[in-house]
Amino acid sequence: MRISPLLKTATVVVASSLPLAVMIGCNSSSPSNPPLTDAGPTDAGGDGTTTTLYQRLGGHAGIRMAVDKIVAAELMDTKIASFFFNQVASPVPAGHPTVDQLSECFTDLLASVAGGTETYPTTVTDEAGTFMCRDMATIHQPLGISGGTFDTFIMIAATELQTLGVASADITTIGTVLEGTRSAIVSSSVADAGEQAYDAGHE
Ligand code: HEM
Repeated sequence: MRISPLLKTATVVVASSLPLAVMIGCNSSSPSNPPLTDAGPTDAGGDGTTTTLYQRLGGHAGIRMAVDKIVAAELMDTKIASFFFNQVASPVPAGHPTVDQLSECFTDLLASVAGGTETYPTTVTDEAGTFMCRDMATIHQPLGISGGTFDTFIMIAATELQTLGVASADITTIGTVLEGTRSAIVSSSVADAGEQAYDAGHE
């Protein structure tokens, strides 16, 4: 999908801003792919009209705008930002996405599960060229991401969606999709600081 700068000026359909929903985990059928299930049309407004999550988020442009906000917020966290060493290199090494390409891949992933016609993986294009988005395990396993870092990533994303006014139920749905990628993304061999067992007998 061609990346348009116009997408950045789009607005999200704003629903009521409710307390942050609890994220519910779900099982992935494959370790390398999230459980991609279409959220399906819902009468979210209770007015008899059904909309898809895709429509409520403002379609591709609205999702891209939300992704841009999420990515910007993630990069404000120094721990998370440290994983994006390829993206701060100039030029970005071959085989790795620019932030723009990464954001468009993320947009197509979310759009494909929210009821849009987008597919994932797909090829995205920006001024740096084309990039073929990859599956979750291929991208993330070499990075050594811990469960705690993954939790932080999810909470930042959820907070940004709440700030944008996305409805609580929709944040839960998106959170479920993101949470479903955990096993593909987190490296089980990477422990979070402070989680090592305390050895009382050690001098
Ligand atoms: C919550 C679930 C997550 C989803 C759905 C997700 C999705 C994506 C997508 C779609 C891409 C771009 C496609 C590609 O590179 O082929 C990407 C790249 C990337 N993600 Fe994630 N991500 C998630 C969590 C994380 C976390 C927790 C981190 C680290 C803290 C992270 C770090 C990265 C990095 C560094 C890249 C670029 C990799 C490279 O340069 O090759 N992601 N992610």
